[in-house]
Amino acid sequence: MDLVIRRARRSDKRDVLAAVRTIWGGQDRIPDVFDRWVTHRTGPFFVAESGGRVVGMGKLTVVSPTEAWLEGGRVAPRWRRKGIATALIAHRVAYARDRGFRVLRFSTASDNTPIHRAARHFGFTRVGALSRREAPAMPGAAPTRATPTQERGVLRRVGPLVQLGHGWEWREITLRDIRSAIARSRVFVSGKEVGAAAVLGDRYNASLMITAIGGHVAPLTRLLRGLRAEAQRRGLDEVSLYVSNPGQARAARSAGYGRPWSGEVYLFEKRFTRRAGSAPSPAPP
Ligand SMILES: CC(C)(COP(=O)(O)OP(=O)(O)OC[C@H]1O[C@@H](n2cnc3c(N)ncnc32)[C@H](O)[C@@H]1OP(=O)(O)O)[C@@H](O)C(=O)NCCC(=O)NCCS
Repeated sequence: MDLVIRRARRSDKRDVLAAVRTIWGGQDRIPDVFDRWVTHRTGPFFVAESGGRVVGMGKLTVVSPTEAWLEGGRVAPRWRRKGIATALIAHRVAYARDRGFRVLRFSTASDNTPIHRAARHFGFTRVGALSRREAPAMPGAAPTRATPTQERGVLRRVGPLVQLGHGWEWREITLRDIRSAIARSRVFVSGKEVGAAAVLGDRYNASLMITAIGGHVAPLTRLLRGLRAEAQRRGLDEVSLYVSNPGQARAARSAGYGRPWSGEVYLFEKRFTRRAGSAPSPAPP
């Protein structure tokens, strides 16, 4: 099979939309993001072409100067199981390595076997299994806001990753993120010496979204209850977050959070070791 991988062009829109038309019952997000992605401003959006037709696609998003993210991997139904997704991943792995990124990550559903296989094939390791939790807002005492002196304690509790936006995308959280979140009153704490902490993201629909969380089970349980009261205070319907370990799951259960779907989001990561003497070319903006 002849297969060419190249950057997407505006004129590919019709083919791209046709390729994803039936994916996820026609609810795929590619049609919504195509115009933005095809500018390549946040990182290259590649298509796989065979016989002059676009049969697959995949994007690499630059999330920080050292971290890149893979998303938008799609292959048109009739073209599957021919190695096209694998070729698109290989292309982006090589791109990330050549540009000097330190780490490449992506997330996928816990039941997406083809992607797990491809991940293993390219030496990715699974670094997280995240599971969604939600709880309705309720009356009660609002939680305590973190102060600037607690920034390191907060980072220790909530690290290492923070969710970006409301999708399945994460990157490493930094002290700077915590500092700016505290300045915007978006960090809540509980317990002695920051026993637990939570960082809020942007409001999504009527949900108070938590983008990073962690701590000991007892203070975390209190904090999660307090966040339900915080949602109520803000006139929101619910609190939502992802838990990433059994302690967090326990705290969420005790604080009245439920699991809206049974699957998990697997987070995969590949780290690049820099070859001695090789200087990376600059990453795209
Ligand atoms: C997931 C998807 C991109 C895979 O595309 P593809 O071109 O068929 O994948 P490949 O042919 O490169 O196969 C990758 C691996 O998965 C295996 N595989 C592919 N389809 C499979 C299936 N239905 N069941 C089990 N294994 C499968 C292949 O054998 C290969 O493994 P191997 O290298 O060990 O042999 C495609 O099915 C798709 O577009 N699905 C809908 C959208 C989606 O889930 N995107 C990914 C979001 S993270």
